[in-house]
Amino acid sequence: MRSDHWYSGDDRNAYIHRAWMRRGAPSDAFAGRPQIAIANTASDLTPCNAHLTEVAAAVRDGVHTAGGVALELPVVSLGETQVRPTAMLWRNMAAMATEEMLRANPIDGVVLLGGCDKTIPALLMAAASVDLPAVVVPGGPMLTGTFRGRPLGCGTDVWRLSEEVRAGTLSDEQFTGSESAMIRSRGHCNTMGTASTMAIVAEALGTVVPGVAGTPAADSRLLEAAHGTGRLAVDMVAADRRPSTFLTRASFHNAIVALAAVGGSTNAVVHLLAIAGRLGVDLTLDDVDRIGSRVPLLVDLQPAGRFLMEDLHRAGGLRAVLREVRDLLDPTASTVTGTPLVETLDDADIWDTEVIRRRAEPIVAEGGIAVLRGSLAPDGAVVKPAAASPHLMRHKGRAVVFDSIEDFHARIDDPDLDVDADSVLVLRGCGPKGYPGMPEVANMPLPRKLLEQGVRDMVRVCDGRMSGTAYGTVVLHVAPEAAAGGPLGLVRTGDVISIDVEARRIDVELSADELARRTPSEATVAGFADPRRGWERLYVDHVLQADTGADLDFLVGSSGSEVARDSH
Ligand code: FES
Repeated sequence: MRSDHWYSGDDRNAYIHRAWMRRGAPSDAFAGRPQIAIANTASDLTPCNAHLTEVAAAVRDGVHTAGGVALELPVVSLGETQVRPTAMLWRNMAAMATEEMLRANPIDGVVLLGGCDKTIPALLMAAASVDLPAVVVPGGPMLTGTFRGRPLGCGTDVWRLSEEVRAGTLSDEQFTGSESAMIRSRGHCNTMGTASTMAIVAEALGTVVPGVAGTPAADSRLLEAAHGTGRLAVDMVAADRRPSTFLTRASFHNAIVALAAVGGSTNAVVHLLAIAGRLGVDLTLDDVDRIGSRVPLLVDLQPAGRFLMEDLHRAGGLRAVLREVRDLLDPTASTVTGTPLVETLDDADIWDTEVIRRRAEPIVAEGGIAVLRGSLAPDGAVVKPAAASPHLMRHKGRAVVFDSIEDFHARIDDPDLDVDADSVLVLRGCGPKGYPGMPEVANMPLPRKLLEQGVRDMVRVCDGRMSGTAYGTVVLHVAPEAAAGGPLGLVRTGDVISIDVEARRIDVELSADELARRTPSEATVAGFADPRRGWERLYVDHVLQADTGADLDFLVGSSGSEVARDSH
C-alpha cells in the first residue's frame, strides 16, 4: 500500500513516521492496514456542513470495523451564504489544497464529506487529480420548515417573503421570525439548488453509494450510510478502485441524464466540466445539451416546481428517478461499489407520483440545459428551458447594458431607465476573470417600473452564473466573458439581441465588420477586476472560461498520488 512507504521498515524514517502517529494507537495500526482519510468540510462558518463532524464519526467506525485506520483531515470549507465575494472564487483553491494534502500524507484512500454548493465539486476535483480510492458521503438536505402553515424552500422562499414585505402583506417582524423556520435542521438547502443537484450528480457519476444522495441530514439513515461508506473505503483500497478506473465518459453521460431528469442547477454544468477536465475525460458543453435535452423532467421540486428534498427522498429518491429513464443511461458506467449504476436500480420504486412523475407523464417531455451559440457567445452560453418563459424562448429586443453588478444596482430602478418588457437586460464583467469568481448574479431583478406593470420575466444575458434556487429566461455563462475579450463586452445599449432556444442561437444583430471595429468602452473595462496580489491575482491570471469548467489552467489534469521527492 501507498502508506507502507511511510510506515514499513525498521529504519529511522519509518520510526519517525510511526512514532509521531502512535499516540495510543495499537502497534498493528501501521502494519498493512489501509489508512483512510476523512476529508471533512465541517466548519462553523459553513453552516450547511457543520454536522459533518458527527457523520465523520460514523465513517470512522466503519473504517475501523473493516480493519482500516481512519484519519480526519479538515479541508478548506466554503459556506455559500457567508463567503465573499463569491464562494466560486475559492472552489479551485479548496480543490488544490485538498489534492495536495491527500498526496502529501500517508493516505491510501479517502472518504469525502461535503454538502454546501462548492464543497462536493471541490472534493471531487481533488480526488480526480490525486487519483486515490475515493467515495463521497453527501451531507444531505435539511428538513422542511414551515411558516404560517406553508412549507419553506431555502433560498427560493426568501424572495417570496421579501416581496410580501414590499407588498405590505407581511410585517418586518414576521419576516425576521421566518428565519429560524426556514432553517429547520442541520443540512444544506432543501430545494433542487446547487447543493442538492451536486449530491445527485455525484451519485449518478458513481462516486456515492447508490441510494444515499438526498438522505436528509437529520435522518439517522445518513449515519448508517456513513458507516457503510467507511467500510467500503477499505474495500476500495484493496480493489485499487481509483477514480481513473471507473469515472469514464459513460459516468458523465449518466450524470447529465440525472441532472436533466431532476431539473438540476445550471451550476452543475461548470462543475461537471471541471471534474471531467481533471480526469482527462473529453466532455464538452455540447455533450450536456445533446445528452440532457432528450431526457424528460420528472421531479417536481422548487425552485421551478412545488416540493422539497425531503419529499424527493420520501418519494423514492434518485434511484426511483433513474429507473424511469434507465434506457437513457449508459449501462457500462460503474460505481464506487464496483457494480454498474444501472444494476443498482432494480428494486427502486416511486412512492409518490406527484413528486416523481412516471415516464409517461413527465413535467416536461424534454428537459435538460440548452447550449446557445452565436455572435454574442461564440464559445457557448446556457439556458434552462424548464425555468424559462415559453413566450421568450424565441425573442428579439433592444439591449439595456450594465457594465458591472454595481452599475446594475445603481440604475435598474431608475424611473428614467429606457427599458420595456421586450428589452434584453445585459450584465457583463461577471465572468470568472471579470468579477473575479463568476458570481450568481445573472438572474437580475426586473426593473421596478416593469414589475408594477405586471411584467414577471424578461430575457437576461450575463457572463456570470445563476443561483440554483432561481429561475427565469436567463442566458448565462456567456463565453468568452467580456473581460476575456468576448463580444459581450462590445454590445451597446440599443443594439438588437435575438435568441432562439430551439435553434440554439444567441446573436447581436451587428455585422462582423462592425463588431471587429468596436473596442470595449472605458466604463466597461473599469468594471473588470484587477486584483493586486494573492489568490485573486493568481485566479484572474489562470482561470479558464465557463465553457471548460472555470478551473485554473495549471490544475487541469491529474498528477496521481506519487510524491516525487522525500526529504527524510
Ligand atoms: Fe449551503 Fe444553500 S447555502 S447549500
